[in-house]
Amino acid sequence: MESELIGASKNMTRIRQLIDRVADTGLNTIVYGETGVGKEMVVQNLYLKSERNGKPFVKVNCAALPDTLLESEMFGYEPGAFTGADRRRRGKFEQASTGVLFLDEIGDMSLPLQSKLLHVLQGGDFTPLGSEKAMQTNAWVIAATNHDLEQDLTAGKFREDLYYRLSAIKIFIEPLRNRPEDIPLLINHYVEKFKAQFNNRELRVPSARTIQRLCAYKWPGNVRELQNVLKRIMILDDGEDGIEGLLSPGSAPADARDADGAKAAQAGSFLEVHGISDLSGLSLKKVRKEAMDRVEREVIAYVLNKTGWNRSKATKVLKISYKTLLYKIKDLGIEPPPDALL
Ligand SMILES: Nc1ncnc2c1ncn2[C@@H]1O[C@H](COP(=O)(O)OP(=O)(O)OP(=O)(O)O)[C@@H](O)[C@H]1O
Ligand SMILES: [Mg+2]
Repeated sequence: MESELIGASKNMTRIRQLIDRVADTGLNTIVYGETGVGKEMVVQNLYLKSERNGKPFVKVNCAALPDTLLESEMFGYEPGAFTGADRRRRGKFEQASTGVLFLDEIGDMSLPLQSKLLHVLQGGDFTPLGSEKAMQTNAWVIAATNHDLEQDLTAGKFREDLYYRLSAIKIFIEPLRNRPEDIPLLINHYVEKFKAQFNNRELRVPSARTIQRLCAYKWPGNVRELQNVLKRIMILDDGEDGIEGLLSPGSAPADARDADGAKAAQAGSFLEVHGISDLSGLSLKKVRKEAMDRVEREVIAYVLNKTGWNRSKATKVLKISYKTLLYKIKDLGIEPPPDALL
């Protein structure tokens, strides 16, 4: 398991310090940030640095299963608890009892399951499905999410009491675009890693110009996207200009923006662009969000360029409020061309 956290930004430095200080406390911790920023990696580091290292590390993906399955997965069941339950199954809380229980994508958990989880966190006890006996767990619960949970609290999608239970320690990972000094370090790290990994192939090491371009890019898919793009640059060897096809259009520099549609087509299918080649970590919800972001980024950047970055005009074309437009520009990392009058 690769676990070294690369990065010298203030955010990464602070996270490393936090990990060292929190690791042995066993305090419930929540790690949050956009997709691909390294949440799972931070959780692994917490585990590896703690005295629970070597004990079970048990992960539950709360977005991957329907409610009833997730419930039996977390709490286990007795034979006869439901049709098809022919023998006892230990739940993840039981398996993780002396170790770490990593609740990934906690923001996607339904409200009824949130209450059940809250109960466990309050008393440390839970009851497997079909059982009459409560069991104790001493698992260290670490959760991760790419939701803005405080917003979900206000919208009534996440229980406030559960949020406070889970977040004795909060670790926020900044999107890569807000810590640009980490980009060259990550590039360097992954170039060396891929060289070692693909040692029997001819690999193209990115030129200074390519690295400059990658450092200026906004990385909506964060470190995961950076890995995928680098891998393709090194393997495909399709020339310096080929790289624009690998980057999403809304985040391209001013001079490369015009051929919006053509660029998207050249980028290949969604699966290819996002480096999705196996089933692990795949979730339709996440794909939908990434696809929506990509489309919105492209359309909004297009309208802004057509209106000369007159945001009032752009809101009329897009039929959204001014506030929403400002939010989207920031959230999607859409950059004005250098000569725009703002
Ligand atoms: N600081 C870092 N140093 C080195 N590699 C990193 C760093 N941050 C992330 N990565 C790598 O980027 C990839 C994505 O990271 P990870 O799976 O931890 O992200 P995530 O935030 O959990 O994403 P998601 O929300 O999509 O689940 C992984 O391969 C991870 O090893
Ligand atoms: Mg993750």
